[in-house]
Amino acid sequence: MVTTNKYEIKKSKFSNKNMINLANRKQVIDKKPVLDKKIIQNPDVSVVVKNRKTELVNSDLFSLADYHKDHFEGELFNKVSQFRAFITDVRNKGYYQYQRKISSMSGHSVIVNNKINKHKMILFASNNYLGLTGHPEVIDAAVLAIKKYGSGSGGVPLLGGTMSLHKELERRLARFKGMEDAVLFSSGYSANVGIISSLVGKNDVVVNDKLNHASIIDGSIMSGGQFVVFPHNNMRLLEKKLASIPSNRGILLVVDGVFSMDGDIANLPEIINLKKKYNFRTMIDEAHATGVIGSFGRGTPSYFNLEGKVDIVMGTMSKALGAVGGFIASSEEVVDYVRHYARSFFFSTSLPPATIASLIKVIDILERDGTALVKKLHNNSEYFRYLLSCNHIKTRGESFIPIVPIIVGDDLLLRKIHSELNEKGLFVNAVPYPAVPKKECRLRLSIMATHTRDELEYAANEIVKIFRKYNLINV
Ligand SMILES: Cc1ncc(COP(=O)(O)O)c(C=O)c1O
Repeated sequence: MVTTNKYEIKKSKFSNKNMINLANRKQVIDKKPVLDKKIIQNPDVSVVVKNRKTELVNSDLFSLADYHKDHFEGELFNKVSQFRAFITDVRNKGYYQYQRKISSMSGHSVIVNNKINKHKMILFASNNYLGLTGHPEVIDAAVLAIKKYGSGSGGVPLLGGTMSLHKELERRLARFKGMEDAVLFSSGYSANVGIISSLVGKNDVVVNDKLNHASIIDGSIMSGGQFVVFPHNNMRLLEKKLASIPSNRGILLVVDGVFSMDGDIANLPEIINLKKKYNFRTMIDEAHATGVIGSFGRGTPSYFNLEGKVDIVMGTMSKALGAVGGFIASSEEVVDYVRHYARSFFFSTSLPPATIASLIKVIDILERDGTALVKKLHNNSEYFRYLLSCNHIKTRGESFIPIVPIIVGDDLLLRKIHSELNEKGLFVNAVPYPAVPKKECRLRLSIMATHTRDELEYAANEIVKIFRKYNLINV
């Protein structure tokens, strides 16, 4: 395996050691300051955090879950100042890696600013799987559109915010997905919330895979319908749940096509098979499948040769399509209904014309070069997983899927590993509790078609070294 230090970052004067260590100046509370009714308070120990007098906590003992609003009572901002003390300690220990500032295009490598200078880092935290955000044809299309149509659409879609470009993109997406019609939303999040809450009523049932994305869960809650969950991709227990729902209820079964946390694929053939026995409608979230699997990147139904068999296909334009926005594609009558009842559609301004033009160009590129781009992405994903598995590091998910989860299983260790990888010039994501169960906290790397072999080898090598150092490899 090739090892190179070219991405290594020199320790800045703001590294852990030199940072102002609040713990040395004030007493650290070593145990959880959660008192009666889980109110977090300890008036005896305090520290000034940005002019606000608050408690000092040892962040190693806490997670974000401890500062959830429901653990607090009394003055509304109590939770805010207590959280501030926790997050300040995380920052001081050098573990805080959210919102790193990127000052370049979001490619396979990026320039990241810290307080004193800029570094080149290899980016393994982008959903821009095919690297299309920087494609010259895409940029040209956006520039032309902004000159012709200006920076914004000027309105919500039903009332003055629909341009011919929006209609063109809807038509192209419907065709790409093999469906009759499509409708655009301002984000994938609002697409899921809009479609589910507009279709599922209080007399209906929405059935969810346990690992469905938060936006599907939020849409399901907002719908007011009965909410049923089955264990991840477990078809036997799904059938049991379906069998228990009275036959006079409307049922929407929703799954991610490619699951965003585990990198595996929904068992669509079995789901479609169950339709022979039970009367339900299907919806698939193609956020991480569009541009990633299926012929020309058409997604999960195409991957399984089941195009036209799913009732509603939802997708985002923020990942492999390289821009922003969400959509659903379905029959003309479903799309027509959703246009008039999805509040997140008609109460929200439509996407800007430059974005729409760039997306139409991306569909052109996929219809032309999709096979080669997707193959490159799969090859890179398989190669990276292969490098790790040669060193006995297990990854979750399908070998060719670009989402690569590596379970660490200990939140504190995860923070350390994450910050050490950062020092090595590797921009990866850490997924701590409560986003996943404690024992499943993980590194989550996203592979791109544009990563070079050198970059993949360097990253794998650094991960292996750190995992060895912390005895996370059991051979
Ligand atoms: C599976 C899934 N669905 C929906 C969304 C929301 O999409 P967007 O970021 O475009 O709002 C995401 C985003 O992370 C996702 O992973």
